[in-house]
This record gives sequence, C-alpha cells and structure tokens, in this order.
Amino acid sequence: MKQQMNRKICDIEDVLKKYLPEKKGYQKTIFEAMEYALMSGGKRIRPMFMHEIYTMLGGNEPAAIEPFMAAIEMIHTYSLIHDDLPAMDNDEYRRGRKTTHIVYGEAMGILAGDALLNYAYETAAKAFDSKRPDRAMAAYRVLVSKAGVFGMVGGQVVDVEMNGKIPDMDMLTFIYKLKTAALLEASFMIGGIMAGMQEREVDMLCRIARNIGIAFQIRDDILDVTSTTEELGKPVKSDERNDKTTYIALCGMDAAEKAVMEYSESALNLLDKLPAADSKEYVVWLVTELIHRKK
Ligand code: IPE
Ligand code: IPE
Ligand code: MG
Ligand code: MG
Ligand code: MG
Repeated sequence: MKQQMNRKICDIEDVLKKYLPEKKGYQKTIFEAMEYALMSGGKRIRPMFMHEIYTMLGGNEPAAIEPFMAAIEMIHTYSLIHDDLPAMDNDEYRRGRKTTHIVYGEAMGILAGDALLNYAYETAAKAFDSKRPDRAMAAYRVLVSKAGVFGMVGGQVVDVEMNGKIPDMDMLTFIYKLKTAALLEASFMIGGIMAGMQEREVDMLCRIARNIGIAFQIRDDILDVTSTTEELGKPVKSDERNDKTTYIALCGMDAAEKAVMEYSESALNLLDKLPAADSKEYVVWLVTELIHRKK
C-alpha cells in the first residue's frame, strides 16, 4: 500500500506540473514562487482522496477530475503560504524548506498565495470542457464555497482571533471543521459529484471527510508538541509560540489521542455504508494510516 501511495503521489505531481503556467513574461517571479510552493513535497492527501473517491465510485474521465485535483492542492498550498506569514503563524519552514515569504519576500509571498488561489479557479474551470459540464458546475460551487468564508478562510479567521484566548470545545470544533476539514470535504464531495453521485451520497461523503479532517487537525496539533522540525518539515512548538489553545491545551494529550481515534472510527463506519466500492480498501488504509501519521 505504501508503494501504491508513493506512485499515486508521483501521478498527482505530474498533474500539478501539467497545469502550472509557463515561467515566462514580466511577471515570471510569481510563476517561480507558485512552483516553489506547490512542488515542494507535501502528502497530497486532498487530491489523493478526491481521485480515489472518484474512481471508487466509477469515474473514469481524467479530463473531468484532474483540473479539480490540481485546484484543491493549489488552494491548500495558498492557505499554507498565508498561514505561515508573519502576520499569521510566522513560521519559516514548510515541507522541509524555507517558506515562500522567506525566499521571495513578504509581498511576493502574499501575491503567490493570491496567485495560486485564483489560478486554482482558472484551472478547475477547465473541467467545464469535460463530458459532463453539469457535474463540473456543481463541483465548482462546492470548491469555491469550501475554500471561502463558510469554509477554510472562515476557520482561519476564528483561529487567528482566538490567539491568546481560550475557546470552548464547541468553538474549537468549529475552527477545525472549517480551517482543516472544509478542504477535505470539498475533495470527497467533488470526487462523488464528478462520479455522478446524488445528494444523499454526497452528504455522506461530506460527513466522512469532516471526521477525517477533525482527526487530521488534532493529530497536527499533537505532532506540533511531540515531533521534531526535521521529521515534520515545519517548525514544532508553533502553537505554543502563537499562544494557541489547541485540543491538547484544552483536554490534554490522552484525550487528544482518543479523539483522533474516535473521529477516524466514525469516518470508517460511514465509509463502510457507501455504495459499490471495489477499491475501498485503499481509502480505508489511507484513513488508518493518517491516524498514526508521523508527519
Ligand atoms: C497542513 O496540511 C495544514 C493542516 C491543515 C493541518 P498537510 O499536513 O496536509 O500539509 P502538506 O500538504 O502535507 O504539507
Ligand atoms: C492551518 O492550521 C490550517 C490551514 C488552513 C492552513 P495550522 O496553522 O496548525 O497548520 P500548520 O501546522 O501550520 O501546517
Ligand atoms: Mg495556523
Ligand atoms: Mg500554521
Ligand atoms: Mg499546526
């Protein structure tokens, strides 16, 4: 399975390369910064889940799903560039190298984020030329809304506002649902929509991804405390430095570990109820792998 995963990562990176703009013209610097941030490694779990869900549910048109796979990773990467800016988490490493704003300067860092976000939408729109533009339109709506103020951006807003404060569990879950789970929800839902699923299944996919996303963020918080910068590829103790109340600060390490388990189990139980799925095995493996991930 691990080998299979590495092969899938290579395939995803080929897709990303295919859609990146050529590095030429007066604005060449921005193309370089976009590539620097996007092609710097990363687990690629969002396009990976999207592709797995799509094929698992019978989708088989690369031109329909690949634009969305590239777009979700571009949006995720932009969220990381901005998350690392001095005004936000002020981190200097990401994916094992200097952050984009350290290499290209703060102004270009901000612009590289803006560029990736907008270019993600230009890229996703290419799916309108596929055989089912109606599905692409529905998927596009999900993409833009899960990235925005009712999704990832909304979560980052409350996350930042809560620096130095202590949210209750309800608010903390709200933050995790939006800042982290929303892009995973988009990945799962778009995979399902493009494969022709109806509202009921798409809702189910959204719930699966939400549970995975919350578990994923709690594990991210745990690793911020227990891992090393070398292993993680990004600075540890960033949350403490930014005076962030994470799940661990609120409930303790044991409860955090338990919560990762419980949210992931809920996801796996729901996954079990999904229709016809020959290749469910890999998705189940990936969810399980993420529970105990080290980076
Ligand atoms: C990091 O996401 C930010 C969070 C939502 C916790 P990933 O852990 O998926 O980062 P990469 O893409 O692998 O670098
Ligand atoms: C960020 O959460 C989630 C995003 C939407 C970028 P974190 O701030 O904990 O992510 P890392 O630890 O910097 O990757
Ligand atoms: Mg942050
Ligand atoms: Mg951060
Ligand atoms: Mg973190």
